[in-house]
Amino acid sequence: LVDGVLKEWDGATEDVHSTISSTESYAPTLLGSVPDLGEKEALEALDSALKAYNKGQGAWPTMRVKDRIDCMESFVKKMETKREEVVKLLMWEIGKSLPDSQKEFDRTVEYIYDTIEDYKQLDRNSAKFQKHDGVYAHIRRGPLGVVLCLGPYNYPLNETFALLIPAIMMGNTTIFKPAKYGVLLIAPLMEAFQSSFPNGVVNIIFGRGRTVASPIMGTGKVDVLALIGNSKSANALQNQHPKSNRLRLVLGLEAKNPAIVLSDADLDLTIDECIAGTLSFNGQRCTALKVVYVQNDIAEEFNTRFVEAVDKQKFGNPWDSGVKLTPLPEPDKPEYIQGLIDDALAKGAKILNKKGGKRFDNYIWPAVLYPVTKDMRVYQEEQFGPVIPIVPFTDIEEPLDDMAESNYGQQVSLFGKDVYALSPLIDALANLVCRVNLNSSCQRGPDVYPFTGRKDSAQATLSVHDALRSFSIRTFVASKDN
Ligand code: G3H
Repeated sequence: LVDGVLKEWDGATEDVHSTISSTESYAPTLLGSVPDLGEKEALEALDSALKAYNKGQGAWPTMRVKDRIDCMESFVKKMETKREEVVKLLMWEIGKSLPDSQKEFDRTVEYIYDTIEDYKQLDRNSAKFQKHDGVYAHIRRGPLGVVLCLGPYNYPLNETFALLIPAIMMGNTTIFKPAKYGVLLIAPLMEAFQSSFPNGVVNIIFGRGRTVASPIMGTGKVDVLALIGNSKSANALQNQHPKSNRLRLVLGLEAKNPAIVLSDADLDLTIDECIAGTLSFNGQRCTALKVVYVQNDIAEEFNTRFVEAVDKQKFGNPWDSGVKLTPLPEPDKPEYIQGLIDDALAKGAKILNKKGGKRFDNYIWPAVLYPVTKDMRVYQEEQFGPVIPIVPFTDIEEPLDDMAESNYGQQVSLFGKDVYALSPLIDALANLVCRVNLNSSCQRGPDVYPFTGRKDSAQATLSVHDALRSFSIRTFVASKDN
């Protein structure tokens, strides 16, 4: 499947140095491979994006709005025909369950249609003439230039496209490097990209960040770095740019979203939401609940019921029905999680659940660790995997102080009976993060709502509505009343 597509794809298989392999996440079976490209091909991709951007009148950045929409509609219609292949690859490559893989595909298609509608609206609203003090202005939103997009392995389709699609829609030209895991699932979509957009608008480049993305940034010719992943990669790439102050950043980075469980919380609902929040896709979500604060007077009851619920979860292949826990795509993840558990145990925490920390193949059963303290790695690091730290607290000021000290500021979940009445607390939380979830776990969607974060968690805002603005700039044509 992949080789077939690549051979037809505009010379991409020429000059291949080696291949990046993709193995099934649950067993080491080779699924396919893509070229591991180098600096030469990376700079060719940049050149192609620059030429497409600077082509002049009628080219992609200046194309009529209606024509650009036609291209995007043509792309999404072709993409819809690839659902089955892409869903299978999501399951095989990154171990995402069948319903979650289907959701990732469908959500992405919906995101594209909503982006088209929002773009029409944006164009209608901004295409108005204004007059102030004798000066007429036609204010528009224009593209920024060349956008380098790098997506994460946990949403190799949806989050990558949450960057790529609005960037393209606004008239930018793009270079897109797929994530390390989930690399093959782009192949079924290549023909759709190639036949829907003019040459040079979408340049897909396989390879390692250091080999392909760094040289592109080093030229200083990229206008926007769009990355969802970790701040180490984002900083390294940003620093490669010789004039990084010129660079616009659209970044979705780490988070350590807390759940705060107050003593009057409805425990049935809270436990369901905390299971979803900590364990959906094995905790490999930037929005996952990564630390659970529980008020002391209900800690015992919460812990007993929560660990029972954790150990009842079903582990299995992504296509088995009812599975919550699935194999981990990163081969070194169980060892990393083990390190966090060992550190917490050495500093006084206990594993509360019977199955916690059991290892098999490339999986480690989620350990519920209690009581977790600030000196433990599992409190300090974004685990991005199956391990759940619980921190007891007496006064609500304790988690608030911790959040104020934290380097992250994406979301929080607050559980309690009368939380809707706690507006000063909600206001205080909203000033520490960007989304306060009342009696529900943290999540990105619905995609029309702003998705962003404070501190090291994000730069700019992604959502159907905001991303078009993040990937554009306001320009205007002025004339005098004479
Ligand atoms: O990995 C971070 C994603 O933005 C999480 O998205 O809340 O829809 O799972 P989600």
